[in-house]
Amino acid sequence: MRRNQIVLVLVWVMGICATTLLCATVDYDHRALLIDGKRRVLISGSIHYPRSTPEMWPDLIQKSKDGGLDVIETYVFWNQHEPVRGQYNFEGKNDLVRFVKAVAAAGLYVHLRIGPYVCAEWNYGGFPLWLHFIPGIKFRTDNEPFKAEMKRFTAKIVDMMKQEKLYASQGGPIILSQIENEYGNIDGPYGAAGKSYINWAASMATSLDTGVPWVMCQQADAPDPIINTCNGFYCDQFTPNSNKKPKMWTENWTGWFLLFGGATPRRPVEDIAFAVARFFQRGGTFQNYYMYHGGTNFDRTSGGPFIATSYDYDAPIDEYGIIRQPKWGHLKDLHKAIKLCEEALIATDPTISSPGPKLEVAVYKTGDKCAAFLANDNDNSDATVKFNGNSYQLPAWSVSILPDCKNVVLNTAKINSASMISSFTTESSKADTSLEASTSGWSWISEPVGISKADSFAKIGLVEQINTTADRSDYLWYSLSVDLQDDAGSQAVLHVESLGHALHAFINGKLAGSSQGNGNKRALDVDIPITLVAGKNTIDLLSLTVGLQNYGSFFDIWGAGITGPVILKGLKNGNTVDLSSQKWTYQVGLKGEDLGLSSGSSGQWNSQSTLPKNQPFIWYKTNFAAPSGSNPVAIDFTGMGKGEAWVNGQSIGRYWPTNAAPNGVCSDSCNYRGPYTSTKCQTNCGKPSQTLYHVPRSWLKPDGNILVLFEESGGDPTKISFGTKQVASLCAHISDSHLPPVEMWNSDTKSGKKVGPVLSLKCPHQDQVISSIKFASYGTPLGTCGDYYHGRCSSNKAMSIVQKACIGSSSCSVGVSTDTFGDPCKGVAKSLAVEAICT
Ligand code: GAL
Repeated sequence: MRRNQIVLVLVWVMGICATTLLCATVDYDHRALLIDGKRRVLISGSIHYPRSTPEMWPDLIQKSKDGGLDVIETYVFWNQHEPVRGQYNFEGKNDLVRFVKAVAAAGLYVHLRIGPYVCAEWNYGGFPLWLHFIPGIKFRTDNEPFKAEMKRFTAKIVDMMKQEKLYASQGGPIILSQIENEYGNIDGPYGAAGKSYINWAASMATSLDTGVPWVMCQQADAPDPIINTCNGFYCDQFTPNSNKKPKMWTENWTGWFLLFGGATPRRPVEDIAFAVARFFQRGGTFQNYYMYHGGTNFDRTSGGPFIATSYDYDAPIDEYGIIRQPKWGHLKDLHKAIKLCEEALIATDPTISSPGPKLEVAVYKTGDKCAAFLANDNDNSDATVKFNGNSYQLPAWSVSILPDCKNVVLNTAKINSASMISSFTTESSKADTSLEASTSGWSWISEPVGISKADSFAKIGLVEQINTTADRSDYLWYSLSVDLQDDAGSQAVLHVESLGHALHAFINGKLAGSSQGNGNKRALDVDIPITLVAGKNTIDLLSLTVGLQNYGSFFDIWGAGITGPVILKGLKNGNTVDLSSQKWTYQVGLKGEDLGLSSGSSGQWNSQSTLPKNQPFIWYKTNFAAPSGSNPVAIDFTGMGKGEAWVNGQSIGRYWPTNAAPNGVCSDSCNYRGPYTSTKCQTNCGKPSQTLYHVPRSWLKPDGNILVLFEESGGDPTKISFGTKQVASLCAHISDSHLPPVEMWNSDTKSGKKVGPVLSLKCPHQDQVISSIKFASYGTPLGTCGDYYHGRCSSNKAMSIVQKACIGSSSCSVGVSTDTFGDPCKGVAKSLAVEAICT
C-alpha cells in the first residue's frame, strides 16, 4: 500500500471509530453473532440497573464475569428516565451510561433492550404515565402519537449511547439492541395495525444506525434484518424465521417473580443446565439468563399488579448480591464445558440422531474439530447411549457434553459445585435515642380517614383510578355522604365492585371492611356488612393500586379503582340504593404524601403520647444505627401490615408481610426431572410472601438513619428488626461417580491420566477462611446442606482429613476416592459430604 493509501484507510477507520481503533464490527449469519468477523458462542445474563445501586454494580458484574458470562443484558426503563415528559433523569441507579461503562470496565459486552415497552414486572411495563394522557394515543400499535414518542425516546437513548461511544462499532461494549418486547405473544387483538406497527418499529430501529444488530423477542414475523429470538424455560425447539439468522435465546428464566400473596418460585439448576445444554446441542449460540441478578423493586417501580418488592427471581446471584449456590457454580461449570466446544460449535450445524426413545445425539464435526452432546429427555429413566463405540450413562433429564466427541466433561444433572445456606442475622434494633425519637424509639403521625386535602374535587359518578391519579400515588379516596333518615341503626350491606387492586371501606370514620385481589384476579366484588346511623352517614372508600399492569394486549387501559356499581343493600323494607351516580368527592393520595413525611424531616411527629399500635393509617418514624460490618442489610417487617417504607428519604419499596402464600401449592422436595413450570417447585406455602426488605448499604450512615413507614392496615413497629444477610454454611456432596472438575478436563484428557472426582469448597469472601468443619462423612452420608447425617457406612478418618485440608484456608479440595479415605464399605457406591463454616 502506498503511503497516502494508508493515510486514507486510517482516516476512514478513525472516522467511524473516532479516537479508538478498538472498534468492532458486529454482524450475524446463520450460525452465530459475528464479532470482527468471527462467530461467537455467547453466554449472557440480565441485570436491571435500577434494581440495585451503582455501588453494587461493579461487584454484580464481576460475579457475572466470574460465573462465565460474556454479555450483560438490561432493559432501558423509560418511566425511570422520563418521569415527566421532556424531563430526564439519568442519576443514581438510573445512570444508564455509568452502568454500561461498568460492564465495559469488566471486559463484558452489553445487550441493550431499549423496548421501550419492557414488561419486566415493572410498573406499567416501563411506560411513563404521561404517555397515556396524550390525546389520541393508542399504545403499541400503528398510531402516530405513540410512534412519535416511541421513536423520540428510542432515538434519545441511541444518541446518548453514541455520544458516549458505547456501541461496539465505536469501540464500546454494546453488541446488540432490542426493540419492542414479546409483542408477538399478544399481537392478535391489534390486528393488521399490529403488523404494520412491528414493521414500522423494525425500520425505525434500523434507521437509527447503531452499527450493531437489533433483535425482537417472541416475534416470529420480525422483518429482516431484525433477528427474532426466543424467550422461555426451554428454547431448543426454536428456529429463527430465516436461515440467515442465528438461533438466539434472550430470556431463559432462572426462576420466576414473586407476588405478594404468592409462594416463592424456585427453579432447580439441574433443569436450567439441562435446558441450556439442549439449546446449544440443537444449534443455539447465544443464551441469556433472565435474571442473572434480579434485585429489588424499590419505590413504586414494581408492576403487576401484586408484584412483590423482592425481585430475587431465584437467580444465580441473589437479591442481596450474594452468589446463590450451587446454581451459580454449576452454571459456571456448564459455561466452561460449552466454551470447550466453541470452535466445533461455530464451525457447522449439528448432525442430530436419535439412538432410542427420547434420546438424542448431536455431533458438531468439521476437520479435526469434534464436539458432541448426548441427551436423555426421559423424565424418569436413566439410559445408556452408545456413541462412537463407547457407552455413556445418562441420568434421566440430563445432557452430557463431550468437547472431543469422546470424553464427558460435564453432565447437567451432576453437580460438582458447592452449595450454600444464607441466613438473616438480626441485630437488636439499637434505636438511636440521641435524636428526636421517644423512649419507645418511635414517633408517629396519623393519616386522616377520608377527604383531608385542599385539592379534593367532586364529580358525578364513579371514576377510573389510573386516569384520576395518573399514578402519582397508590391511593384514591372516594367519599360520599348519604342521608338515611328511615334506616337509622339498621344493619345493611355495602356492595362495592372495583377493577382492583385493593380496598378499605370506612363508614362514619370506622373501618367496616377491606378486600384485595391477587396475582390471578385483580377485580373486587365485595359485600361489606355495615351499621348506619340516623341522618347523615359518611362512606369513605379508599381504593389502592399495587403496581400497575405490565403485560397483555391493551394492558395500558385495563384500568383500576371503584368503577362500580356501589350499592347499599338490605335497607329497611328490602330497599336498595344505587350510589354509583351520586356526586362523589375525590382525593388523590394521602395528606402525608403531600406533606413529604417520607423524608422524616417535616411534619409534627408525636413522640410523647402512647404509640398507636395495630391501627390503620399511621405514619411511623424511628432512627437506627446501621448493622455493623459490610454484609448486605435487610429490615424484617414481621409485625407490620401493609405500606411503604423509606430509609433516609429513599423508598425501599412496598412492604406487605401479612400477605401470605396459599397452602397446597408448594413441594418440599423438588424433582428437577421433567418440564418445568413457574409453579412446579415453589416453597414458603402458608407463610408471608416477603418479610425481608433490602436496604442498600450505600443508603446508610453508621448512625442516625431515619426509617419512615406509612402503615395502611395496622401493625406494631416495635416488632421490626434490622439485620444482615450472609452465608451461614458452605456444603458439598460429591459421589465417586461424579466427574472430575471441569477445569481438569484439558490436562486430564491430554495426559491420559484419569483424575477422579474432587470436592471443592471456597469461602464467599476473599478475606474469609474456613474456620470449622461442621460435618464430614465419606461412605453413604445422607441429608441436605445444613442437615447432613451419617449413613450406614462412614470412614472414621473423614473428619480429620477434611479438617487438615481445609481449616485455615479460604478454599480447599479433597479427592473423593478410597485413595484418600480408605474403603469403609467395599462394593458400595460412596460419596463425601462436607459442611464447613467460613469466618
Ligand atoms: C417475559 C417478559 C419479561 C418478564 C418475564 C417474566 O415474558 O419479556 O420482561 O416479564 O416474562 O419474568
